[in-house]
Amino acid sequence: MSKRVRTAVFPVAGLGTRFLPATKAMPKEMLTVVDRPLIQYAVDEAREAGIEHFVFITGRNKGVIEDHFDKQYELEPTLASRGKSDELAELQRELPQAGQASFTRQQEPLGLGHAVWCARELVGDQPFALLLPDMLFKGEPGVLKQMMEAYEETGGNVIAVEEVPMEEVSKYGVVARGKGPDEGFAITAMVEKPKRKDAPSNLIISGRYILQPEIFALIAEQPRGAGGEIQITDAMQTLMRQQAFTGVKYRGRSFDCGGKAGFLLANFVYALDRPEIAAALKAEIKKLGLGSGTA
Ligand code: G1P
Repeated sequence: MSKRVRTAVFPVAGLGTRFLPATKAMPKEMLTVVDRPLIQYAVDEAREAGIEHFVFITGRNKGVIEDHFDKQYELEPTLASRGKSDELAELQRELPQAGQASFTRQQEPLGLGHAVWCARELVGDQPFALLLPDMLFKGEPGVLKQMMEAYEETGGNVIAVEEVPMEEVSKYGVVARGKGPDEGFAITAMVEKPKRKDAPSNLIISGRYILQPEIFALIAEQPRGAGGEIQITDAMQTLMRQQAFTGVKYRGRSFDCGGKAGFLLANFVYALDRPEIAAALKAEIKKLGLGSGTA
């Protein structure tokens, strides 16, 4: 039986330059999709998948993330005294229990692989999930839970993938698909940000991983790769020589909130799910002549 995955790592040290000036003093992971910060969606997804320990790789100017996952002493009595019991219950439900959240800093921006390596002491010798909060997934169940189902069958390492148009592959890590169904197939190769002509497929690495702890030693030996950064994809490619990697083409939809278009689209689609604001949105769409307003 595969060893249970209890810990999830969230790299949140990035500078968020694509969202300046919004991210000058505020972490990009705190940008909201409707009324929830991006990082909250990733934590919710992890919790749904059975994660009990949440490890955040932060950096300077990211203190607000730690505050977000702590009790807010002024807020709770105020909500209680105003009778806002639903809001209070939601805040309490979402709070990690004492000791369930850990924070460590990536001291230099050396890349995603290096950020993950910074988690090695907190993760220890056990498999872990890795969630990149820029990627937001809308699906039932959440992507990590779908991956856990594959992991229970296969063990080893599991990566969520999705298809993108060929002209977009060079923005992502790309995998080569071997045998097996969408719910769990063999990955035979992977490459970080390939030129379109070198991409082995149009299946990209979607920002959700289940990894074995042997990855840490390999990251430590990893020379710099694409963009001059230490890449997790390169370390995974090395680990593939010793361990199996399974791809899961998940059911659901993703939004790349690392860019403005994906972020705004996510806000739009999530807002349409909220009856209290959907009507106003639909009316505006109609007014602008962008659609029938009945979507
Ligand atoms: C990272 C990974 C890449 C993956 C992508 C998903 O790239 O290195 O393999 O496809 O996230 O968002 P980044 O977005 O940090 O450049």
